Amino acid sequence: MALYSDKVMDHFLNPRNVGSIEDANAVGEVGNAKCGDIMKMYLKIEDGVILDAKFETFGCASAIASSSMATELIKGQTVEEASKLTNQAVTEALDGLPAHKIHCSVLAQEAIAKALENYNQAEHLDS
Ligand code: FES
Repeated sequence: MALYSDKVMDHFLNPRNVGSIEDANAVGEVGNAKCGDIMKMYLKIEDGVILDAKFETFGCASAIASSSMATELIKGQTVEEASKLTNQAVTEALDGLPAHKIHCSVLAQEAIAKALENYNQAEHLDS
């Protein structure tokens, strides 16, 4: 059996939503100290709905595939739905990751959570 699913390979080789969003109103950056990989999420949120999501990932193939899939999953979702995104959902959507690569999908979950946390704080400051 191949180490990586076709979906992982596809999202690694043709990642969706790469880059930054200039007028993003929720940005979150996380890193994994062990492997040194870094993931930055940009979200454009309007009326509680995620209109756009982009990412910059300096990391392994699984981290790039996970960010690509995670941004695809949360686009069009409400903030509440996106805040419930789990790394299991990302892994499942990718048809699985090798056991030692699960932490790469956790990074995607954390980056989105971080961005949403910053969004809520920014909203709080505005009011
Ligand atoms: Fe650390 Fe993939 S090896 S994010």
